[in-house]
Amino acid sequence: SRLSALSASIAAFDIFGGAHTELWHYAAEHEGRRCADPLLRAQRGERVRLSLRNQLREATTVHWHGLAVDEANDGSGLHPVAAGAQRDCDFSIDNRAGLYWYHAHPHGRTGAQLQRGMAGLLLIEDEEERALQQRLGLTWGERDLPLMIADKQVDARNAIIYKDCADDWIGNRVLVNWTPEPYLDVAPALYRFRLANVANARMLRPAFVHRGQALPMLLIGTDGGLLERPWPVEDLFLAPAQRADVLVDFSALAPGERALLRSLDYVAMENEDESGAFQPDPMADHPGAVAMGDPLDLMELRVVAPHAPARPPVRVPERMSALPPLPDTEGWPVRALRLRMDDQGRWFINDWNFHLTGHEPAFSVRRGSREVWELRNSMTSMPHPIHIHGLQFRVLSRSISPPDIRGRKVAEGGLGPQDLGWNDTVVIWPGEIVRLALDFDQPWRGTQRYMLHCHNLEHEDMGMMISFAVT
Ligand code: C2O
Ligand code: CU
Ligand code: CU
Repeated sequence: SRLSALSASIAAFDIFGGAHTELWHYAAEHEGRRCADPLLRAQRGERVRLSLRNQLREATTVHWHGLAVDEANDGSGLHPVAAGAQRDCDFSIDNRAGLYWYHAHPHGRTGAQLQRGMAGLLLIEDEEERALQQRLGLTWGERDLPLMIADKQVDARNAIIYKDCADDWIGNRVLVNWTPEPYLDVAPALYRFRLANVANARMLRPAFVHRGQALPMLLIGTDGGLLERPWPVEDLFLAPAQRADVLVDFSALAPGERALLRSLDYVAMENEDESGAFQPDPMADHPGAVAMGDPLDLMELRVVAPHAPARPPVRVPERMSALPPLPDTEGWPVRALRLRMDDQGRWFINDWNFHLTGHEPAFSVRRGSREVWELRNSMTSMPHPIHIHGLQFRVLSRSISPPDIRGRKVAEGGLGPQDLGWNDTVVIWPGEIVRLALDFDQPWRGTQRYMLHCHNLEHEDMGMMISFAVT
């Protein structure tokens, strides 16, 4: 049924057992029941009319991450909804099927509000997706499941804690769909998981591990929906805000066996100086947290005997979607955007820092134009998951990539499987140059302002963000 309002609220929930945990969340009434951060489901082309009631004691917003909407409905910090106020959203969904999400986006407070719970998932469906669902025969909610993954810093009294303007907020507890120490009973069969990393800052490297080996997995979709074809992968890099649609086959496992969804270890490359040493102590504010890049168990999968009689194994189609080929960008204007830190440890995009240099649009692009944006990270830096509002883009190329990324290349231009679809968030690794193709074909009139920022929320809140205008 249709939802007409989301209320930004604060209430206590039993998450960890024992003392209740106060969550800031989007509350909704659905069929007489109250739910928190509901998973929303919509069809492509559907009109969304919804009001946001802010019952927090500070400004908030609801941003539709990944959706192509006009500025008034984008829910960025340019349009804060004051404490006690209400704002209506009214837009049509023009995105492909896929897993998107919604979250708060008030300037300087995004990290604090998301850490406390202001985020939920949005599933969009269309014809192509329904056809695939028919072919796969994996029932949503049974063998097709969203996994919303976040880490939280939780104290001894079960309170979620946060310090403003910390660098890289990482947690000591992992929650999958708001559940600590999660496990899932699985049949020895094929499953579809829609992974979403909604952590503040933790980059994940998810893999399904059985007896120390990664189970084969097929990547079938990214932020903006299905890929053209499934790509076999063993693991992925899933940065904050990124989504991945994967198929995993447990049919070689016997009832009683277990597999783990685990984030594998990787070289975090966080602020390393030439000697490879960390500048600040990244763990000082994070008691009990697993360091960035260290292995981290996310969820257990317990294989059980199937209740239903065995069905014939699922045939995964070789073609998932009709995806347009990468555009020929010959002659498109190129905009260079450089990610860097100044000598006081403040992040910049070119010479812009949203808080230090102001909120005015950094540049404008013409409606209907197409541009190449070339993002370049410094050598001594961190991986930055860069997110652009208002559209989905295509990744054209990656160069000077670190070995772990170079090793994933499956296509021209140094592209890995996750680069081959539509995306709204892309990781720029230290030293890398990543080129994106953007098409500013938009139906709206008048100037629309959007954000480009690092989705490491502490970087964003410290000003690693710009606004740009489409005119
Ligand atoms: Cu997911 Cu600007 O946000
Ligand atoms: Cu966004
Ligand atoms: Cu960053």
